[in-house]
Amino acid sequence: MTLTTEERQALIDLANEARKRAYVPYSKYRVGAALRTKSGRIFTGVNVENAAYPTTMCAERVAVFKAVSEGEREFEVIAVVTDNGGSPCGGCRQVLAEFGLDTLVLIADGRGKLVKEMTVAELLPEAFTPNHLK
Ligand code: THU
Repeated sequence: MTLTTEERQALIDLANEARKRAYVPYSKYRVGAALRTKSGRIFTGVNVENAAYPTTMCAERVAVFKAVSEGEREFEVIAVVTDNGGSPCGGCRQVLAEFGLDTLVLIADGRGKLVKEMTVAELLPEAFTPNHLK
């Protein structure tokens, strides 16, 4: 997959913009995600917290679930933005792995600066995938 610097930045900017809509009354830690499918559609996501803390949902998973529920299962790249360039949690890595180990993950900070980029395979080595159930 060839992704230009401009395309990377555009996705990061969308995730950063989405971040403003994060519902984070407890952690105050805003996370925004923007997921681009192979068909070119973009789905954003934010973390949505809950007074019953474990029912909180991460931004990355919101973006993936929005895409899947709209019929999209083939992903190209996801941008994840936090204040400090935080990395996707284990649960989100697993959910991304379900739909492809080659999905590119762009991790950026609150100024919109790309701090790290890697594939899901690199983020989650030895992933348990649908192939294991065949
Ligand atoms: N969070 C995400 O949205 N994505 C991650 O990958 C890590 C954590 C959220 C969950 C919670 O609302 C806040 O960040 C602090 O854990």
